[in-house]
Amino acid sequence: MHIEENKNLKAYNTFGIEAIAPYFCEVYTVKELQEIFRNEKFRDMPLLILGGGSNILFTKDPEGLVVSNKIEGISLIEEDEQHVVVKAGAGVVWHDFVLHTIAQGWGGLENLSLIPGTTGAAPMQNIGAYGVEIKDTFLELEAIKRADGSLHTFTNEDCCFGYRSSVFKTTEKDKYVIATVTFRLTKQPVFNTSYGAIQETLDAGGITELSLKAVSDAVISIRQSKLPDPKVTGNAGSFFKNPVIDEALFNRLKEKYPAVPSYPQADGIKIPAGWLIEQAGWKGYRRGNAGVHDKQALVLVNHGGANGEEIRQLAEDIQASVMEKFGVELETEVNFV
Ligand code: FAD
Ligand code: EPU
Repeated sequence: MHIEENKNLKAYNTFGIEAIAPYFCEVYTVKELQEIFRNEKFRDMPLLILGGGSNILFTKDPEGLVVSNKIEGISLIEEDEQHVVVKAGAGVVWHDFVLHTIAQGWGGLENLSLIPGTTGAAPMQNIGAYGVEIKDTFLELEAIKRADGSLHTFTNEDCCFGYRSSVFKTTEKDKYVIATVTFRLTKQPVFNTSYGAIQETLDAGGITELSLKAVSDAVISIRQSKLPDPKVTGNAGSFFKNPVIDEALFNRLKEKYPAVPSYPQADGIKIPAGWLIEQAGWKGYRRGNAGVHDKQALVLVNHGGANGEEIRQLAEDIQASVMEKFGVELETEVNFV
């Protein structure tokens, strides 16, 4: 394992923020990862695992060791007439994995096309888009316990998945490193085109016969029309979660703002944070090199050269302004260092 010192992480986070890691290495196997936890020099140091760096904001330099997860490999574990069980290394690029499953004719992940990052980070916040979350097809994962390097299996139930949440962001935060993730996919896809503009996009393209690829292409085209490409403009997708509010607050909002969009959930009413931020006047706003995307107000952007502190300050000002105008608290989705 090759350890580098004073490594600039600008190319390792999609916000494109400069941050220096005292120690840095790439790991390619589960064994190499386990070695770190048993290494005298590194086992007691703070450790940051990086996938694609697409959901992280560096507000300062990380301490200790930063590990870039490159554990590769996709394998078919089991198969019957209707289903397949397929396992991916945590470092497999998520979109490559989705494209692989589509090419094999395995359904379940097509609505999650083009989400940046790695397969290993996907369970962290139960990634979701266009009416689907990974919890819908997730079977289990293997994770290494940081305290002693031992390998553990977490089932779907063990992960306690919720909206942009899992045990790895709550009770088990910073205790495990995810090494492999296994999904149960179907050979007889049930297409989910009801969410957002998927059906509209299929119709506009003259698609009358549904296929995994057609749905994936529609999702890709919608995403490209709204979300900034991190290769061009630094960002980490939605900066905040969509708030779920109680009925009393929703009724007060609806009275004052009859056009407020809303999506009823089991635990309350979900309001799009992008709408709240836009109504508060922030869409397209720019302060120095930090800003709010002009096509999607939920996405904060680095126009080039912003530092993490500037983005954080902007995020705090947006939170305060939405609280003042609507009485709604915005919780961040992005992980802060
Ligand atoms: P990183 O940013 O590298 O890490 C995220 C967190 O997970 C960090 O705390 C890190 O320490 C931890 N971590 C990473 N890998 C591991 C591991 N193997 N074991 C333990 N901890 C780990 N998200 C959605 O849910 N839906 C979307 O539609 C969506 N759209 C996006 C669009 C854009 C343009 C961008 C930039 C981001 C979007 N995201 C979306 C957010 C992001 O893509 C996901 O959260 C993704 O899963 C992050 O993966 P990553 O490998 O980049 O994680
Ligand atoms: N809206 C506005 N103004 C904006 C943006 C949005 O008014 O600038 C309102 C509109 O009413 C729109 C609604 O918000 O119809 C929903 O917008 P959109 O479909 O773009 O989705 P979102 O709720 O903003 C969520 C996820 C995305 C995911 C999309 C598609 C969260 C925090 N974000 O965004 O996930 O891709 O739905 O399913 O749940 C991410 O997590 O990083 C992410 C990009």
